[in-house]
Amino acid sequence: MLKVRSSRMPHPCELEVWTARPGDFDTAATQDLHGLLDDGERARAARFRHEADRRSYVVTHALRRLVLARWLEADPQDICFSQEPGGRPVLLAPSDSGLYFSHSRSREAVACAVTKVAPVGVDVEAVRADAIDEQIISRFVAPDGAADLARDQRVARFYFQWTALEAFWKAQGQGLSDGNPRIECRRHSDGQFEVWLEGHADGARARLIAVEQSERICATVAICSTAEVRTQLFNANAQLFTARQGHEMLSAG
Ligand SMILES: CC(C)(COP(=O)(O)OP(=O)(O)OC[C@H]1O[C@@H](n2cnc3c(N)ncnc32)[C@H](O)[C@@H]1OP(=O)(O)O)[C@@H](O)C(=O)NCCC(=O)NCCS
Repeated sequence: MLKVRSSRMPHPCELEVWTARPGDFDTAATQDLHGLLDDGERARAARFRHEADRRSYVVTHALRRLVLARWLEADPQDICFSQEPGGRPVLLAPSDSGLYFSHSRSREAVACAVTKVAPVGVDVEAVRADAIDEQIISRFVAPDGAADLARDQRVARFYFQWTALEAFWKAQGQGLSDGNPRIECRRHSDGQFEVWLEGHADGARARLIAVEQSERICATVAICSTAEVRTQLFNANAQLFTARQGHEMLSAG
């Protein structure tokens, strides 16, 4: 079984966001990362019908273990997860860590966010210009008032709002629900976006951090803090490959 040690590094930033591309991991690499998972994760991985989904699941869950191990100064395989009734994953062991974390996976890209500042959520979506549904998103996100946008701007707005929406409700420990108030994505004077709830004038609920906004991928983090949070983004591919070889890993220097 793959055994890796976590790097005992200080954490100069308040929020770390790690991303990886599952497509960069061949069968052997995925199988090695599979060795980091527990029995429950392996059973879920085995249930995916498509190899691309299985690979994405394995890479995400291995990444989550490696990232949290670094923060907890623990071995990745010693971490145990449980779930709140609404579906939010929580740490069972080590307990009382004060860590907030979230992950998201798609076939094209995955992400894991971790912080001690406040509850956090992350969402990653593959951008498909022909799949945007502005009708559906208007059930969950209040209109931003921008009219006459070009098609590519509307696509970009859709994916930013969608990932903000899912990241925000994950940070709240809930999924999407028609019972939730609509969110508003408002730009703060410092340029960052905030999440407000429609009909609630009592202040912003979260900050949004655009992790990636490319033609192929959109990834956004929501953190339930109204202050600016020092954030560092990492590409985890190299570290995951290193972890496969059993070396000291996830050094963020
Ligand atoms: C929870 C939800 C936001 C996840 O988004 P997604 O794009 O489907 O999936 P992601 O890959 O981004 O995230 C999956 C992870 O979210 C986490 N998650 C699930 N429920 C969560 C919750 N309530 N709070 C925080 N995190 C949650 C899990 O850890 C899950 O990981 P796993 O499946 O790898 O174990 C979404 O599934 C949802 O809103 N579900 C509620 C019900 C629903 O489907 N409503 C649709 C109405 S249109």
